[in-house]
Amino acid sequence: MHIRNLPCLAASLITVTLIGLSGCGGGSSSGTATTTTAADAAVSSAQTTGTVPTSPTDVVAVGGTNKATISWSAVNGAASYTIYWSTAAGGTTTTGTGVVSATTSYIQRGLLPATRYYYLVTARNNSGESAASGEIATTTALLDGATPYATYCATCHGRLEISLVTNRGIAEIKAALQNISSMSGLVVTDAQISAISAALMFNN
Ligand code: HEC
Repeated sequence: MHIRNLPCLAASLITVTLIGLSGCGGGSSSGTATTTTAADAAVSSAQTTGTVPTSPTDVVAVGGTNKATISWSAVNGAASYTIYWSTAAGGTTTTGTGVVSATTSYIQRGLLPATRYYYLVTARNNSGESAASGEIATTTALLDGATPYATYCATCHGRLEISLVTNRGIAEIKAALQNISSMSGLVVTDAQISAISAALMFNN
């Protein structure tokens, strides 16, 4: 298990370089020109119609502890979706940070606590990108697990937004602190464990 973490640390360094400008951004770097081969395969049928998809509708954003879940209704003929986020209202697809996601929901991880995040979603296929959905906003929870995670856990488990240690309850973290020798020296309060656990939950 320990060995498994080593490539993760290397990957985290690379990811820092790629998304350094976007700071808390959870996903890949920019929204443009990053369509994956999987998306290319999915797009071939849409391509025959030659039409750009319509804008996503029913966009919903729900803030949680250091994260936000963004979902929307699937758009006919779309191969992928791009989520543009900003901490300022009135962002556009030019000013927002793009995150490519292939599904109809996305959890943006590693966000600041008690912060309002604004989202736009577009649909795309080989014919192009739709106009943006209406802007949706949500505020993350006041509870901050990202700060204690960065202090006590990130050196070994990677940054919160790419941590492999996800969906761990308070009891699991306490057990790890007791049983795993390299973690036994950590002095973490119950409140910090509780906040870290909330920030590591991505099952919702
Ligand atoms: C000094 C390095 C180190 C630090 C710091 C550290 N861990 Fe770990 N942790 C490990 C190792 C090594 C393992 C066992 C191998 C594994 O599971 O990857 C582990 C395992 C775990 C596990 C159990 C295994 C699993 O995948 O569920 C949890 C939960 C966990 N750590 C949470 C945390 C949390 C939360 C923090 C911060 C409070 C933290 N760790 C800090 C090294 C560390």
